[in-house]
Amino acid sequence: MSSQTATAQALSTTTLADPAFLKIRDLIYAIAGIYHSQEKIYLLAARCARRMAALGVATPAEYLDHLTTRGNRTAELRLLLNEITIGETYMFRHPTQLDALRDVVIPQILEAKNQIGLKKLRFWCAGCSTGEEPHTLSMLLLEHKDKLLAGWTFDILATDLNDNSLESARAGIYGEYALRNTTPALRRKYFTDIGDKKLKANDQLRAHIRFDRLNLSDDSKMVFQRGFDVIFCCNVLIYFDLASKRRVVQHFYSNLMPGGYLFLGQAESLYQVDDSFKLVHFAGTTGYRKPIAVPPAGGKK
Ligand SMILES: C[S@@+](CC[C@H](N)C(=O)[O-])C[C@H]1O[C@@H](n2cnc3c(N)ncnc32)[C@H](O)[C@@H]1O
Repeated sequence: MSSQTATAQALSTTTLADPAFLKIRDLIYAIAGIYHSQEKIYLLAARCARRMAALGVATPAEYLDHLTTRGNRTAELRLLLNEITIGETYMFRHPTQLDALRDVVIPQILEAKNQIGLKKLRFWCAGCSTGEEPHTLSMLLLEHKDKLLAGWTFDILATDLNDNSLESARAGIYGEYALRNTTPALRRKYFTDIGDKKLKANDQLRAHIRFDRLNLSDDSKMVFQRGFDVIFCCNVLIYFDLASKRRVVQHFYSNLMPGGYLFLGQAESLYQVDDSFKLVHFAGTTGYRKPIAVPPAGGKK
């Protein structure tokens, strides 16, 4: 059976009300914290249909079996997560955030770290998709390496759940859509024209970034992420319900150095999610700062 026929069959023979979809919804939520509300079940069904077609599976119940009891269940779950988590992104997506980073946050952190003689900055792009965000950050930091950051080193951990996105991120090849906010001067300095209207990030830009697969809902891995000065988790928590958002944000709190910052997407906030951080207003944007001195238990944060 061709995969197109199988897709058509999978879609035509199933209904969104199939209880197997609800079980798959619960499984995805338990593993990755990503919640599909009743109105979004159709999206999940469409993504499952693609995997069902690839496997030649006819019913959601049979596909559920592939995800839960078959020998290949771990790999299949990963493939389904790859279908579910395709993320929109581009370079210099949040200019006001980058201004705040350069003008306020980094100088603050440099001053604090200077006092302890630790001349290294650590950044984390959590939910980096195809890598535009960490490449942007690397450009910004390299642009300031001779003045603001003279004598300092920096590294950027860039993580995502989606294997396909990470593969693209590692390749570092971008087209006009991703680069539309990147100036010609930065394009020339940090990218190589590889033809077909594509630019490839050069080694200088890539050297500071380490890509890794990390599920933000995997507590066993999250507890080992330590010592970050700034975490960007932009346009990721929108996939999560309140309970899974809270869990991830509490991890971020522990993952940050005292005085470190968490930046979210422009339309996101920690309102009613977490009050351990201090909300900081910058020109045109906001960030969340971990207090320098942790308040005593029961005291006001
Ligand atoms: C819309 S993209 C955001 C990309 C980038 N941060 C930006 O703002 O331009 C959201 C990303 O979050 C990732 N994501 C969703 N749930 C995740 C999870 N549980 N763990 C890790 N990454 C996740 C998706 O794979 C996707 O690449």
